[in-house]
Amino acid sequence: MALWGGRFSAGSSSMFRQVNDSLPFDQVMAVQDLQGSVVWSRALHKAGVLSADEQAQLESALNELTRQAEAGELDFAASTEEDIHSFVEAALIDKLGDVGRKLHTGRSRNDQVATDFRLWVREHIDSLRQDLTALVRALLNTANRHRDAVIPGYTHLQRAQPILFAHWCLAYVEMFKRDLSRLDDLRKRLNQCPLGSGALAGTTYPVDRHEIAQQLGFDGPCLNSLDAVSDRDFVLELLFGASTSMMHISRMAEDLIFYNSGEAGFLQLGDEVTSGSSLMPQKKNPDALELMRGKCGRVFGALQGLLVTMKGLPLAYNKDMQEDKEGAIDTVNQWHCCLCIASEVLDSLSLNEDRCREAAAQGFANATELADYLVGKGIPFRTGHDIAGQVVLKALQQGCAIEDLPLTSLQAVCDKIDEDVYPVLQLEYGVNKRNILGGTSTETVVKALYQELEALDKQD
Ligand code: ARG
Repeated sequence: MALWGGRFSAGSSSMFRQVNDSLPFDQVMAVQDLQGSVVWSRALHKAGVLSADEQAQLESALNELTRQAEAGELDFAASTEEDIHSFVEAALIDKLGDVGRKLHTGRSRNDQVATDFRLWVREHIDSLRQDLTALVRALLNTANRHRDAVIPGYTHLQRAQPILFAHWCLAYVEMFKRDLSRLDDLRKRLNQCPLGSGALAGTTYPVDRHEIAQQLGFDGPCLNSLDAVSDRDFVLELLFGASTSMMHISRMAEDLIFYNSGEAGFLQLGDEVTSGSSLMPQKKNPDALELMRGKCGRVFGALQGLLVTMKGLPLAYNKDMQEDKEGAIDTVNQWHCCLCIASEVLDSLSLNEDRCREAAAQGFANATELADYLVGKGIPFRTGHDIAGQVVLKALQQGCAIEDLPLTSLQAVCDKIDEDVYPVLQLEYGVNKRNILGGTSTETVVKALYQELEALDKQD
């Protein structure tokens, strides 16, 4: 029978149960529900509601259930309970009879679910932090393996200026570090304890909410009972953090898919993260990367879905809010898998450094260098830009690179150009000229790389 059966004379329809029951998915919070229940039983004892003996019986039964939950021994599939909270309470009543019936005194599933889900999110923040850190390490190792490699840098997917491959890696390191800090911000904000807020108005029993919060590792209790049971900002923030990070993963995947294409030919991916075609024997497809890109859809959808679910809800709890879980559970799962597979892809890739260099030297990527060279000869940049443009046109007409034009051709466009222009047009010149904080010169990039590696080693 349901927890709330007393007021009802007829049972629930099976379709209602299918729509209403959350045990099939909220069972993932079993351990958190048990943890919260142990602390609640202690609070009830201190408040004079439970005797020491009753509390001890409850705590030992809850501990036994925790052991079973961790060992995967709880049979959720056979249960007819509607959610994880009813499941735990029914199991206690089964074990302890009337003593089990006392645990829910002064508590509501509304403050219970808000507490359990915060605990669940908090735990996953900690493991997602580890996944993100491992990905940062994989990027740094990849950069380190190819410290001197030069690739074309693009804007509008047109070759723009040459950059170090390591500089590309470090760009994503910055993004994933921000994803980490978003998780840290979320952890701080969610770490307030709803327990003791009752159904909506607070509890009548004199429990010590500060002690409850402290025992569950929260920084303190939520300060308003209506807010405590109604707020799902912490889930939205998790989904936003996941969406942003998945967007970063997706852009990285997109870059790598392009670098891996036959047209670019910059790199090879390991067999372990690619798959073949059932028809075309020659194919080796970047499926892992495509799925990192593809899974953004469901993660962004979960964020959008919960925003829409929450926007019209009156205070305080409404059953709509049960819809916060499936999207968030799936998101955490997908984000975790994508972070892990991204690290594997990076570990597996090998760069064709010669091919990268060749591509970086093509497409007149040194035209900016020519304009800057003319600035050095006293020509205003805008005029230098125009002259360099004319030189590019000339090279295009002759089907060669700028540096392949003879000096006489260059001087026909601008007599300020001299023999000393040729070293300036070399690939490494343009890269290393950007020797400024945040730039792509070897000196700057290697320094940044070692700083990041050192920072990671210190964390361990
Ligand atoms: N399964 C519910 C949820 O996830 C728990 C809270 C139920 N509260 C209630 N008043 N029916 O939201």
